Amino acid sequence: MKKLGVAILGLGVVGSGTYKILTENKEYFKVKEGLDITVESVLEINKARIEALGIEKSKVAKNIEEVVSNRNVDVVVEVMGGVTFAKDFVLSALSSGKTVVTSNKELVAKYWPELEQTAKKKNVGFFYEASSVGGVPVIRTLIESMQGNHITSISGIINGTTNYILTQMTDNGWSYEDALKEAQKLGFAEANPTADVEGFDATYKISILSSLAFNKKISIENIYREGITNLKEKDIKFAKKLGYVIKILGIGKDTKNGIEVRVHPTLVKNDSALANVKGSFNAVKIEGDSVGEITLTGRGAGSMPTASAVVSDVIFAGKHSEFYYQPFNVEKQKPVKYVKDFTSKYFVRLESKLNNSEVNKLEKIFGKKIVINKIVKEESEKLDIVILTELASEKQMLKALDKIKALKDLTVENLIRVED
Ligand code: HSE
Repeated sequence: MKKLGVAILGLGVVGSGTYKILTENKEYFKVKEGLDITVESVLEINKARIEALGIEKSKVAKNIEEVVSNRNVDVVVEVMGGVTFAKDFVLSALSSGKTVVTSNKELVAKYWPELEQTAKKKNVGFFYEASSVGGVPVIRTLIESMQGNHITSISGIINGTTNYILTQMTDNGWSYEDALKEAQKLGFAEANPTADVEGFDATYKISILSSLAFNKKISIENIYREGITNLKEKDIKFAKKLGYVIKILGIGKDTKNGIEVRVHPTLVKNDSALANVKGSFNAVKIEGDSVGEITLTGRGAGSMPTASAVVSDVIFAGKHSEFYYQPFNVEKQKPVKYVKDFTSKYFVRLESKLNNSEVNKLEKIFGKKIVINKIVKEESEKLDIVILTELASEKQMLKALDKIKALKDLTVENLIRVED
């Protein structure tokens, strides 16, 4: 039977899950996959993590050199996160002829071509299923199951932490702070949760997914990004009143005007499929010209779901001796044409003093190009005004908001895009 030696760099949330699956299922993998997988080495500075998993001292490496020079190690699993050490360690493993499996979306999104090229030079594999959408096998679906398609869009809920926070705030009235704390406790959030709540994590993921979908390297600098930290309870409340829930979506489209990629909070109809993807669950909708629409859904974050994706890559690596490398070559790639302006429907929340005559100017400010679909007004100490528009250009909308901001007694509290 083929033996496969694995090293794990980092025994945090994903690393410990990976260790558990690989060790607890050793016999199962022998029977089912014909692979005798052994964790030969781990690299982790936190002793408590090593002890909690009961790992023998002889398997604990002192440094990366010890890992990459270990002849029993075939596959190095990088689940440390961050890019400084992770990049050096991954390059060192690939250069030493080890196949690498990583869950590190920031690493892949930022340094993908360099990592792929190093892997290709050494004829080893570079796998990253766990980098996007946790346990949901989106990457393999794109690479291995949708070749017969030109993919025109890929979009959905691709961050578990923010979906968990928004679900708790919307369904259970939790505060943002409590929901974030719980997401951290449950192992959904990144070590620095800013990556989640400010939309960086989703940006890395949609960069990877849209690059694979559209067969061009989509750089993170060209992705519009907005997190959930500007959302207020009032946004959630008014969205609900209008029949919507707020989700943060990653959206990638290949249009006749160019590539459009963005990450931002979005109102979706409360009876839509996406509205019912709750907690740490993710959902990704892919549209191909042959197959039509496919939606994949499942747990997008957490120890075991993410480790499930890592292990699938380890097994894939163990069963293949020829590897596939992404064909996009950034140096040779024609410049990607990005859409500079896009259209969307909008939810605009304003506040004003009571009996403020400036409110009457709104329709004129929006003008003919931004059609108002609905206005809701609610009086308390102040007047809350919520406007839903028809499809309009983002540029036009931002121009209109600048004009509203210039009014003395009216404040723009939030602008959220709407997908019907
Ligand atoms: N922090 C990430 C999330 C982990 O919440 O989705 C999985 O990529």
